[in-house]
Amino acid sequence: MEKTLGIIKPDAVANGYVGKILAMATDEGFRIAALRMTRMALPTAQAFYAIHKDKPFYGELTEYMSEGPCVVVALEREDAIAHWRKIMGATNPEKADPGTIRKLYAESFTRNAVHGSDAPETAAQEIPFFFAASEVY
Ligand code: RTP
Ligand code: MG
Repeated sequence: MEKTLGIIKPDAVANGYVGKILAMATDEGFRIAALRMTRMALPTAQAFYAIHKDKPFYGELTEYMSEGPCVVVALEREDAIAHWRKIMGATNPEKADPGTIRKLYAESFTRNAVHGSDAPETAAQEIPFFFAASEVY
């Protein structure tokens, strides 16, 4: 079993897709191990996406991620990291496969509805970024 950090981003929360996205996760066999709604302050979003700090989209990304509440989840499943990214779809929703979360619910390349950890080392950093060990069940 593996865990990944998922985020339902501010656009998807504001657009009312939290229930639908969580249902897609559980229908795909994910167990919700931790869950919280939280609005990141700008410095928190900057820290979370620090890996992208030199990218041209960093300012737009971090302002977007701090514009309103997200729902953050730790999701557990066999092959959780790769499988969550598969059902999220491509970063650019125009290139995402039919039926993926981003194809269904993203607004744009930046405002793309969901996040998922991209490697075991990333998940191991990202889950504790949001959750104390006692909050992960
Ligand atoms: P994420 O980290 O949010 O799960 O997304 P990802 O791995 O699919 O994509 P990544 O390359 O890590 O980019 C992080 C987020 O930055 C925004 N972005 N905008 N407009 C653009 O060119 C652009 N490129 C990236 C997206 O919100 C993307 O998910
Ligand atoms: Mg990424």
